[in-house]
Amino acid sequence: MAQNRTFTMIKPDAFSAGNTGAILKMIEEAGFRIVAAKVTKLTAERAGQFYEVHKERPFYNDLCEYMSSGAIMALILEKDNAVADFRTLIGATNPAEAAEGTVRKLFAKSIEANAIHGSDSDENAQLEGSFFFSKDEEF
Ligand code: GTP
Ligand code: MG
Repeated sequence: MAQNRTFTMIKPDAFSAGNTGAILKMIEEAGFRIVAAKVTKLTAERAGQFYEVHKERPFYNDLCEYMSSGAIMALILEKDNAVADFRTLIGATNPAEAAEGTVRKLFAKSIEANAIHGSDSDENAQLEGSFFFSKDEEF
């Protein structure tokens, strides 16, 4: 399959716990190439825009508060079959259901504070990447 790209965020719980380096090591060892990266902090409003698809869900306000509670690292990653392979690497949304050896199994604290985001389609990977990065920040 052709090289393609996905978008990820190391979420506030994992970033503040000092797990960024360990997670980046897993990402690189799984064959992903980092093509863009930055440390930043979302406002609750921007977190709400990012997770707009969930705005009718009961956990939406909590999610926006949590995602704006501290610094995150945003990255664009390249690999063949990037979106699906990255979802496999991070594991299920709920760490209690995440497979052994996945990022969420190792580092997530709860279904909400679940360490890492991964795009769910090529289209969303493109949209989410451009939410954080301009084209001249991608290599
Ligand atoms: P992302 O990669 O972050 O998009 O996670 P996901 O695709 O595995 O899950 P989904 O898009 O359904 O949910 C987005 C985020 O909302 C999750 O990663 C969690 O942080 C949070 N979330 C999802 N379900 C629940 C829930 O039932 N309760 C709470 N409190 N948070 C949830
Ligand atoms: Mg999702």
